[in-house]
Amino acid sequence: MSVKPGTLSPWQNQIGDYLTARNILGIVVIFAVYVLSKVFYRLYLSPLSRIPGPKLAAATNLYAFYHDVIRQGLYIWEVEKMHKQYGPIVRISPDEIHVNDPEYIDTLYGGPGKRRDKGQRTINGLSASPTVLGSQQHDLHKSRRAAMGPFFSKQNVRRLEPTVVNVLRRMFNRLDQHNSAKKPINLNILYRAATHDIVSEYAFGEDGVCFGREDLNQPYFQAYHEMVVTWHIGCYFPWIGHLMRRLPPWTSIKKIDQIKSSADFGDGTRTIFHGLLQSDLPEAEKSSSRLAEEAQNLLAAGTDSTANTLAALTYQLLTHPQILQKLRAELQEAIPEGSLPIFSKIENLPYLSAVIQEGLRLHPAVSTRQERVAPDEDLFYTDEKNKKTYRIPAGTCFAMSPALLSRLPEVYLSPGEFRPERFLEDPKLKRHQLTFSRGTRICLGINLAYQEMYMILAALFRAYDGWDGTGKQKGLTLELFETTRGDIEIARDLVTENMKADSQGVRVTVRGPVSEN
Ligand code: HEM
Repeated sequence: MSVKPGTLSPWQNQIGDYLTARNILGIVVIFAVYVLSKVFYRLYLSPLSRIPGPKLAAATNLYAFYHDVIRQGLYIWEVEKMHKQYGPIVRISPDEIHVNDPEYIDTLYGGPGKRRDKGQRTINGLSASPTVLGSQQHDLHKSRRAAMGPFFSKQNVRRLEPTVVNVLRRMFNRLDQHNSAKKPINLNILYRAATHDIVSEYAFGEDGVCFGREDLNQPYFQAYHEMVVTWHIGCYFPWIGHLMRRLPPWTSIKKIDQIKSSADFGDGTRTIFHGLLQSDLPEAEKSSSRLAEEAQNLLAAGTDSTANTLAALTYQLLTHPQILQKLRAELQEAIPEGSLPIFSKIENLPYLSAVIQEGLRLHPAVSTRQERVAPDEDLFYTDEKNKKTYRIPAGTCFAMSPALLSRLPEVYLSPGEFRPERFLEDPKLKRHQLTFSRGTRICLGINLAYQEMYMILAALFRAYDGWDGTGKQKGLTLELFETTRGDIEIARDLVTENMKADSQGVRVTVRGPVSEN
């Protein structure tokens, strides 16, 4: 239909008729009534209205959105303030409850026989990935986890010891190179390369992905970090997160296809994906694209987490010489000079264990609030101080945050202080940690993470002492290079703990005779 210049088409005229001032006002009024009644419901009629917390957070998601998205991961600190003001249970958004009481961990996160779904916000952030980590419903999660679980049992993880030792040798070679070149080395990058290569060898049988490269695959990790910054956007706008993050994992798809087409599957225990392809999972669950997502998740979940904890622990040990000497004395007893550790000989060393627990407490690598939903049971929480019991109705999203639990002064004396002894004085303290989560969705890689941390820390500090500045030390030493506490302390929660924006990580100068490892 042709329209003469300067005249309106019939449909434009029709819209014009509707857009009278009266009609616009009517729409605005209807919308305002809708919003106000929703806010009224949330504040006064919702079953969550009895839970304490700021009215603004209970009235609208915009409050959490502002601190999570606009201020980029700072809601965690607002939630901490809420707990200080309102007590151990608070309503942090219209539909979400946050609890900050370690005694309640087992009830919230449930165990065998307790159904726990994952919160919608977290599922959005994970772009609803078809993986163990991204399974929202309890039953789907259970079946995916049942297939993956055996690969991460203590017994099977122990079989990886030769892989860990191989990676340790490569780490020492890099340290030697930096010693000879008199150039500082970035330990976050070194530890990432180590943890990545262990997981990728176990997942696909691929050897030396990072250590085979001069730059230790730094651009890959850089790209991952840039993506993590978009986490909160994805939580609130799933479709944007989806667009930004869900490029098909082509490289992993190719690797799964290669395994599928390989003639020799052996007994299915060679790698995780040889095993999954031979498992009882339904065929749809074995598609290359789904398994590739699972692989991507394993690499993401199993790399930075352990690496950042190790980097923070290294910083803490180098800045606490007395603790380091105590640890080294224990390691010297357990590991002969010039050798690498044997896991079974070090896994029960009391001081090393206490050091690792203290690192996990002060630096919980996964900082996001761990959201769960109990779909078919009401939960009850009693605030012992006020003698008040609150009902969390079935289907409500609730969460706890490891970084906040770890700072409770009523649980940890001087919580900001790095003091491993606290775990020797009170072994029950370990039960108060949520660093690896708990219940049916506890970290799948916990045994591997522990094995890596024990082996890497023990090997490093058996061989290297802290630089004491005298110039008289004969052996190998490490000295922090332009690294401060701000490089290891959580500043914001971007799903994984994030340090100050301009942090370059933990860097050290290596000194001493070049080793023969
Ligand atoms: C210090 C190291 C680590 C920490 C602190 C850590 C922490 C966590 C936490 C808190 C969760 C629960 C997340 C949630 O509820 O949303 C989790 C889940 C998971 N982690 Fe870890 N993790 C570590 C190392 C690893 C390693 C080495 C792997 C494997 C290679 C791994 C694989 C996974 C997987 C697959 C899940 C999903 C489990 C499920 O939903 O059933 N993690 N981890």
